[in-house]
Amino acid sequence: MNTNTITNKDNNFSKNILILGGADGIGFAISKVFEKLNYNIYVTSRHTHENTNNIKYFTLEATKENSWLNFKELISKNNVLFDIIINTIGILHDEKDNIYPEKSIKTLDTNFFMKNIEINSLVSALCIKHMIDFISKSEKTVIAHLTARLGSISDNNIGGWLSYRASKAAQHMIIKTASIELSRNYNKLIVIGLHPGTVSTKLSKPYLRTAKKVFDPDQSAKKLTEVIENLDYEATGKVFDYSGKVIPY
Ligand SMILES: NC(=O)c1ccc[n+]([C@@H]2O[C@H](COP(=O)([O-])OP(=O)(O)OC[C@H]3O[C@@H](n4cnc5c(N)ncnc54)[C@H](OP(=O)(O)O)[C@@H]3O)[C@@H](O)[C@H]2O)c1
Repeated sequence: MNTNTITNKDNNFSKNILILGGADGIGFAISKVFEKLNYNIYVTSRHTHENTNNIKYFTLEATKENSWLNFKELISKNNVLFDIIINTIGILHDEKDNIYPEKSIKTLDTNFFMKNIEINSLVSALCIKHMIDFISKSEKTVIAHLTARLGSISDNNIGGWLSYRASKAAQHMIIKTASIELSRNYNKLIVIGLHPGTVSTKLSKPYLRTAKKVFDPDQSAKKLTEVIENLDYEATGKVFDYSGKVIPY
C-alpha cells in the first residue's frame, strides 16, 4: 500500500473521506469525485439522507458540541480513520430571515454576524477538536476547510460583506493556529483552507450576475481534488485557491 498518496489508485483497498456538509453544493460534487476514486465516503448534513453503496450519511448540527459527541460515538462504531476530511459547511446570507451580506457597516446585524462566526469559523475549530481522534499519526492525512478569498485581510481592497469576511478571516486563524499545535504530534497531517472559486450553488446564487468567472460545482470539485492530491507537508496552515496558489492571510 502506498501510504503517501492521498487519492486512491489501487482498487484493492479503500481510503476514507469525511465531507461535512457534503449532501449539497460543492461538498456533494466532491463526494462524486471521491466515489470515482473508490473511497469510502462519510457525509454529514443537518438533514437525513439515504445511504448509497459508497456513501454513508450522518446527521450533524456542526455548531453544537453535543451533536459532535453523538457523531463521534457513531463513527467509533465504524472503527474508521479518515485520510481526508473536507469541511464544506458555510453561509453567506440567511434566506429565511432575509439577511444578505452588508454593503455598509451601518446595516450590521448582531445575530447575522454571530451566525457567520458560528457556521464559518467555529465549525472549523469543532471539526478539528473532535475529528483529531479519527486521524492516523503515521499516514498522510489532509483536513481541508472550504473558505473564501474574501477572508484574506491583505487582499481586501474593496471592503463590504463584513460578517462573512470577518468569519472567514477567523477561520484562517483557526487553521493556522491548529496546524502549528498539531504538527508537534501529527507530522503527517496537513491542515489547510481551500478557496473553491465562484461556484454556482445556492450560497452564491444571488451574486452570480456580476461574477467574472463561475465554475459548476463539478469543475470546482475536480480542481480542489487536484490541489489536495499535490499538497506537501509544507502546505500545512496555509490557504490555497482552486489552482493551488497560496492566498495570503
Ligand atoms: N459557492 C461559492 O461561490 C463559494 C465561493 C467561495 C467560498 N465558498 C465556500 O465554500 C463552502 C461551500 O459552499 P457551497 O457553495 O457549496 O454552499 P451550499 O451549497 O450552501 O452548501 C453549504 C453546506 O453548508 C451546510 N449549511 C448551510 N447552512 C448551515 C447551517 N446553518 N448550519 C450548519 N450547516 C449549514 C449545508 O449542509 P446541510 O444543509 O446538508 O446541513 C450545505 O450543504 C462554504 O464554506 C463557502 O463559504 C463558496
